[in-house]
Amino acid sequence: MLILEASAETRATCRAWKRGGAGVGFVPTMGYLHEGHISLVRIAKDSCRKVVASIFVNPTQFGPNEDFARYPRDLKRDAAMCEAAGVDLLFVPPVEEIYPAGSATFVNVEGPLTSTLCGASRPGHFRGVATVVAKLLAIVEPDVAVFGQKDAQQLLVIRRMARDLFFPGEIVAGPIVRESDGLAMSSRNAYLNPDERAQATVIWRSLQEAARMFGEGERRAAKIVAKAREMLAFSPLARPDYVELVDNETLSPVQGKINGAALLTLAVFFGKTSLIDNAILCDEGKKCY
Ligand code: PAJ
Repeated sequence: MLILEASAETRATCRAWKRGGAGVGFVPTMGYLHEGHISLVRIAKDSCRKVVASIFVNPTQFGPNEDFARYPRDLKRDAAMCEAAGVDLLFVPPVEEIYPAGSATFVNVEGPLTSTLCGASRPGHFRGVATVVAKLLAIVEPDVAVFGQKDAQQLLVIRRMARDLFFPGEIVAGPIVRESDGLAMSSRNAYLNPDERAQATVIWRSLQEAARMFGEGERRAAKIVAKAREMLAFSPLARPDYVELVDNETLSPVQGKINGAALLTLAVFFGKTSLIDNAILCDEGKKCY
């Protein structure tokens, strides 16, 4: 496995592979990898002969009071996991490589995709995400880029950005990978103390309970959201930021009844750590995503 810090060398390597007839798949990450990230590498490998992963803790997507400085990092372990998963090139640029002195261009996806949900509590976050992903796609020029459904809003923002900027590759979504007790895997789970970690399973239980109601025929959005909130309230350490049922393409809130499919999405604080998760509620036979 190649490990490169320079964007020019990374681009040249990817272009040479493509000239040789290989498809290039790409999995951008901020590192501190877990099985969720690795599942995306496998999806990329299924459709592409060469797979590039990147590790870059992107300063522009963190707010001033967020965890950029203390975001967990372990490059040695990450590199070993990538190598074992069959990554061909691990791109690990320093900040100056992605934001050289004088950088002045940002990518802003406007409207409800970035102003609602996580965008409401983290102003500027999706501007940072769209900017760094646009830069990474411009460097790697992948045929396929894979993102997790765990960050459902991020996925929609990236899809919009890629369409709007005529990015030629395909954006593919990977399903949410969970711990054995249902907690969605996340690098930020490392911040939880043992009590918070134990109680964080309430997130999955509340999503499951909502999905069960939907499965039994409940279609009233308010009832489903109320049930999810009621479940979260059982956990004294959980402080919900938002719990919403929204359209899975536009993120506009479902008014009244669910028609076909909707995204139940939530963010819950445990201490200072915000955990996000979601479930697609979808009639059998409907396209979910
Ligand atoms: P990061 O949080 O490291 O996540 C990298 C990718 O892994 C994202 O596409 C995310 O949705 C996916 N992922 C995380 N947890 C997952 C899980 N439990 N199951 C499946 N996929 C999971 O998201 C980012 O980094 C950054 O915002 C980034 C896109 C790299 C831009 O900086």
